[in-house]
Amino acid sequence: MHDQSHATPWTAVREGGSRFLLYQALIEELDALLSDETDPIANAANAAAAIYHGLPDLNWAGFYFLRGRELVLGPFQGKPACVRIPLGKGVCGTAAEERRSVLVDDVLTFPGHIACDIASRSELAVPLVTKAAPIEAALIGDGVLGVLDLDSPLPGRFNHTDQAGCEAIAAMLVRHLMPR
Ligand code: SME
Repeated sequence: MHDQSHATPWTAVREGGSRFLLYQALIEELDALLSDETDPIANAANAAAAIYHGLPDLNWAGFYFLRGRELVLGPFQGKPACVRIPLGKGVCGTAAEERRSVLVDDVLTFPGHIACDIASRSELAVPLVTKAAPIEAALIGDGVLGVLDLDSPLPGRFNHTDQAGCEAIAAMLVRHLMPR
């Protein structure tokens, strides 16, 4: 991504490259970018910047982290956003509470959508799920560290390849965002 002699993933998708390949490249680049650092805030900040600049047509990319029963704003790129979201509220709170990705083609039709930037028209929120040990998982289920949230000014910007790609990014990111 920082090597100017190679096309960025963004260039590749704009030239007709597949979204699948875009995510494959982004995951590899992100993993390499974060692997030498253990500080969760530094890694979340760099991940937000890399995702924001690596994927086309976003107006916001960043993190909310679970603190008790609410999500609290973490590192992001884009306009200033709402700081606290109760679990179960909005697109992000739903993704965190239900531990599943929420893909919204048109935010105006999502009940309870929380508008941070009025330019946002579609959104994808992916939970950062921490895998519990089998005995813990059986009793209380997997944990949730927070949510990776992407907004776009284009309606229907995200499809199922974006969802699968962001879920793969989230699974990889959890390793780099756990406090050590
Ligand atoms: N739209 C989100 C709030 C976060 S911002 O989009 C950055 C929601 O409904 O949870």
